[in-house]
Amino acid sequence: MIVFRDVSLVYPNGVHALSDVSLSITRGDFMFLVGSTGQGKTSLLKCINREVRPTEGEITVEGQSLAELRAGDIPFLRRKVGVVFQDFKLLHQKTVWENVAYALQVTGAGSRDVLRRVPRTLELVGIAHKSKMFPQELSGGEQQRAAIARALVNHPLILLCDEPTGNLDPETSSEIMALLARINAKGTTMLVATHNQAVVDRMRKRVVRLVNGRITRDEERGRYHVGLG
Ligand SMILES: Nc1ncnc2c1ncn2[C@@H]1O[C@H](COP(=O)(O)OP(=O)(O)OP(=O)(O)O)[C@@H](O)[C@H]1O
Ligand SMILES: [Mg+2]
Repeated sequence: MIVFRDVSLVYPNGVHALSDVSLSITRGDFMFLVGSTGQGKTSLLKCINREVRPTEGEITVEGQSLAELRAGDIPFLRRKVGVVFQDFKLLHQKTVWENVAYALQVTGAGSRDVLRRVPRTLELVGIAHKSKMFPQELSGGEQQRAAIARALVNHPLILLCDEPTGNLDPETSSEIMALLARINAKGTTMLVATHNQAVVDRMRKRVVRLVNGRITRDEERGRYHVGLG
């Protein structure tokens, strides 16, 4: 469960990125975050893994107030909250296998865990056959799958996806979203910031719209634009 209570975020340069955001996301939800460029989607996601701290209001994740977290608690939060970004951020000198294994090793996992979980996760996202490839040898969609595998290998409760289909063609975008829906169906709470109208309209999940850092719409089984039936 993620709860925002009257959250505002003003960056040091004076930009008001979020204003009075109140929101609750139940465990297991699938939520799209929509809005045109610069409206606060990425800022909202970054509050959840404490990459940024709001200037006002309170956020709790699984009952824990993020304001009260100490530096030493942040790795535990980041294990609960996986992230997938548009630009993948894969390590280019490591293979797909090594990228995913590395995410597990930095949490202190032993080699038995790595040998068990990495292949399973690569299997789940459909790129087990690309394990030995380097990121630059993969298509955009395959790189995105590798980035999703890396986020999933730690079994996060929550997955934050920022424009996960940003650079992908429509068909590949649909495949990636279908993968996210399958992961969600296994219980992972999914928050997806996107400009991809076709995908949002097809999937009919919860849609929250941000305009100028404020929530202007929050609908169950919503669409990208309001009032289209
Ligand atoms: N680190 C930062 N410092 C100062 N201002 C920032 C910072 N990051 C974002 N902003 C500003 O905050 C506002 C919201 O940005 P944000 O990245 O959250 O938008 P977004 O909805 O994700 O946009 P896009 O669809 O283009 O990704 C914008 O005005 C942006 O310029
Ligand atoms: Mg953004």
